Amino acid sequence: MSKTAELIIDGKSYTLPLVVGTENEVGIDIAELLEKTGAVTLDLGYKNTGATKSAITFLDGDKGILRYRGYSIEELAEKSNFLEVAYLLIFGELPTQQQYNTFSHDIKTHTLVHEDVKKILDGFPSTAHPMGVLASLFCSQTAFYPESLDPNRAVDGVYLSIVRSMAKMPTFAAWAYKNAVGHPVNYPDNSLDYCSRFLKMMFALPAEQYEVDPVVASALDKLLILHADHEQNCSTSTVRIVGSSKASIYSSLSAGINALWGPLHGGANQEVIVMLEQIKKDGGDTEKWINKAKDKNDPFRLMGFGHRVYKNFDPRAKIIKKAADDVLGKLGINDPVLEIAQKLEEAALKDPYFVERKLYPNVDFYSGIIYRALGLPTDLFTVMFAMGRLPGWIAQWKEMRENKEPIGRPRQIYTGATQRAYVPVGTRG
Ligand code: CMC
Repeated sequence: MSKTAELIIDGKSYTLPLVVGTENEVGIDIAELLEKTGAVTLDLGYKNTGATKSAITFLDGDKGILRYRGYSIEELAEKSNFLEVAYLLIFGELPTQQQYNTFSHDIKTHTLVHEDVKKILDGFPSTAHPMGVLASLFCSQTAFYPESLDPNRAVDGVYLSIVRSMAKMPTFAAWAYKNAVGHPVNYPDNSLDYCSRFLKMMFALPAEQYEVDPVVASALDKLLILHADHEQNCSTSTVRIVGSSKASIYSSLSAGINALWGPLHGGANQEVIVMLEQIKKDGGDTEKWINKAKDKNDPFRLMGFGHRVYKNFDPRAKIIKKAADDVLGKLGINDPVLEIAQKLEEAALKDPYFVERKLYPNVDFYSGIIYRALGLPTDLFTVMFAMGRLPGWIAQWKEMRENKEPIGRPRQIYTGATQRAYVPVGTRG
């Protein structure tokens, strides 16, 4: 392949270099476009724009491939565990036994949060959505660890922030839930693994004995692996762009949590269950809802369907669908919305509207069904997504910092009024 691209503007030709990735993805390098031609590119929603070069995650939307640092998601979900995958994403290689022990030990020693965090939590009404609480508690860490505000801090300081973020996430997530239900918060039990620790903080009550179900802990661990990174999506790009201003890691991660919250992104997992419940209540007529989704005058979209990058099955959805059957079977749960989900999927995959637009079930379509089976409340589904995505955000933030990327600052094509004179208020028509 040629190493350059030709661009002709007003009859004048410009040569632009091509960048080729290790999986042969091709990018046109336009770094000097504005300077050379006076023009910028316009790409709403960044559908065709590579914002960075990254060595973390590879995905091929047409072939349905997803790999973290070269390892396939299928293999990692089957053989690895969430902390090992987190290490892989953040530091680039699978850890040796000693590196793994050190990493998990370091995380365990930071699971407690400052007692004053409780005062912040107390300030939230029980109606607060846990995603808003989670984002706020994350951002509050800038106050407890003000050294994180120093953009030039040493590498070991960054390691500490990484470990603290990973360690405190389950505590914050469980506390956000406790705030919503009005129960006292639980402290982390460091004798447990990452997911079991979270589950105990979530569900243990002072009045009752609580034993973590290993089936639930292991299913949650797998779900976290599947969500751990997904290259330059909305929340990850947010983390990188906020971090590029040299804001603290905690405020960058908090911004990522806020971006993830939206129903077109991570918030979709909650919306899927809301939708399935609604269809069930409405009599279970999936055809009617498929027609609503196709109707351009109706704002309804089939939640959990479609993806910006996957124009084939989302590989995560395949694994999650199988895991949903498995977990429901093991826990002896018969969830009627699973049947509606299956009917909806079957009908959509045959419908020309969805086929032509290459709309397939995405990661969020079945994950809510598992979360529900694990006993997690609907409001907490997106928090689970955030817990899984945390190592990905951290890895991307760290890569952006190590690559010394410039501040993210897109351009625009101005379409507003041209210059006009100010008119005093009393004389405006
Ligand atoms: N239901 C009905 N129509 C849809 C859907 C859907 N779920 N998704 C896309 N379309 C249609 C859309 O109306 C458009 O049709 P037309 O060409 O006639 O105007 C066409 O398909 C292309 O859609 P788009 O909005 O231009 O595609 P996009 O790449 O900008 O959006 C998406 C991707 C995920 C935001 C979108 O598919 C969607 O809104 N899905 C539902 C929400 C959802 O499940 N989000 C989770 C995404 S995966 C996990 C994550 O990122 O967090």
